[in-house]
Amino acid sequence: MNEYDSELIRSILRSHQHEFTDGLANAEAVLLNTCAIRENAHQRIYHRLDDLRGLKNRGHKIIVGVLGCMAQNLREELADREPVVDLVAGPDSYKRLPQLLASVRETGDRGFDFSLSEFETYSDIAPQRVPGSNAWVAIMRGCDNFCTFCVVPYTRGRERSRSLENIVNEVHRIAAEGFKQVTLLGQNVNSYCHEQNDFADLMQRVAEVPGIRRVRFTSPHPKDFPRKLLRVMAENEKFCKHIHLPLQAGSNSVLERMNRTYTKQEFFDLVDEIRAVIPEISLTTDVIAGFCGETDEDFAHTVDVMQKVEFDSAFIFKYSERKNTIAVRKFPDDVPDEVKTQRVMYLNEIQREISLRRNRLEIGKMFEVVVEEPSKKNPQEWLGRTDHSKRVVFFDESAKPGDFVKVRINEAGTNTLRGIVEDQPLRALRVLANFTENNSACSTLYCTTQTCNTIS
Ligand code: 5AD
Ligand code: SF4
Repeated sequence: MNEYDSELIRSILRSHQHEFTDGLANAEAVLLNTCAIRENAHQRIYHRLDDLRGLKNRGHKIIVGVLGCMAQNLREELADREPVVDLVAGPDSYKRLPQLLASVRETGDRGFDFSLSEFETYSDIAPQRVPGSNAWVAIMRGCDNFCTFCVVPYTRGRERSRSLENIVNEVHRIAAEGFKQVTLLGQNVNSYCHEQNDFADLMQRVAEVPGIRRVRFTSPHPKDFPRKLLRVMAENEKFCKHIHLPLQAGSNSVLERMNRTYTKQEFFDLVDEIRAVIPEISLTTDVIAGFCGETDEDFAHTVDVMQKVEFDSAFIFKYSERKNTIAVRKFPDDVPDEVKTQRVMYLNEIQREISLRRNRLEIGKMFEVVVEEPSKKNPQEWLGRTDHSKRVVFFDESAKPGDFVKVRINEAGTNTLRGIVEDQPLRALRVLANFTENNSACSTLYCTTQTCNTIS
């Protein structure tokens, strides 16, 4: 969502004749678009502010702005205790940025805007997208769920959906710009509602846009997952066979304190239903360890769900108190930090085994992979994503970001698969051989396209 917001901000500023520099050296202003969801997101911004304070102290004249959720959440702290910050604007104030920047520049006074809107969806702004494989589209903003641990309802305000026609028009523009994949974004996409249209209606209309080959979405809420959506996803191959389904916790009493409004059994039932309708689905999740009052027995329920459901991957977080949330007001943060850390480590350990086991099931299968970016380990290879959102590294001389390539999987790790493009196995071997030689590392490649050979 923040990447999308940065694209909106870029567009708003460009339309007011602002230009973007490559680095800080020639910049008149630096704007940090921030997240408040967990404590470590805050820490990162404080470190950046320390660096910028150093820069200002050395005489560099630069306007420092903090935008987004952290700005909304910590307005007084930022205004009072961070004199390095000249400008603060929350997620509904981006249209005021040109004015705020002009006023800071002209008067030298600091500028703040934290107003939250019930209506702002930025549907009149065309985001300035970074060319590549995927285009984000926010279909709604805000959230009304008030999970007790979560800051989003306070930083992004009340839930409001964009009109279906407006979203579909944006997807037509995206297709015209050359993107073949869109990801529909919302804090709780299954509550998308505009006039008579629900999320499944929207998905169908988006998939009809010529040129769009893949449609993803994130994130649904398990409490009101629409069964109609499952049928729609099963029937059309443009919909990626991946659902990110945040579990958060396995114990009914923790789920109740979190205000998630489903039980452990209801979560199991939903997973069974999803897998019955779309057997090839990949499921990923978010889990919070060490929420207020979480006992060893509660935690064992989370472990039980993870072991029984076998998610393809999971993001596991240590609970951190967020300002203004219901949990801060109602429940003591009473799980010791060491216990939170141990629980996170344990969940990561069991998830690593599950992910590896599930990834190994993909060996030998062929997937259509959308090319994303050069692999970080070996830039001669590409990183791409399968239809069910698994990362694949492969070599393809002629590919570029956004292309669709058929790749047969021949190796599986915990987080990434490795594969061979059907018509290029020998070239891929040569590149790998060069790479291992240059990096004096050792690697084994199982060549499934040539059936009998194991080449090391
Ligand atoms: N502490 C830890 N994790 C949190 N999340 C949201 N709020 C908190 C918090 N206070 C996690 C949830 C959510 C993901 C985006 O961040 O798991 O799904
Ligand atoms: Fe936060 Fe819950 Fe809304 Fe997700 S659904 S954004 S966790 S309040």
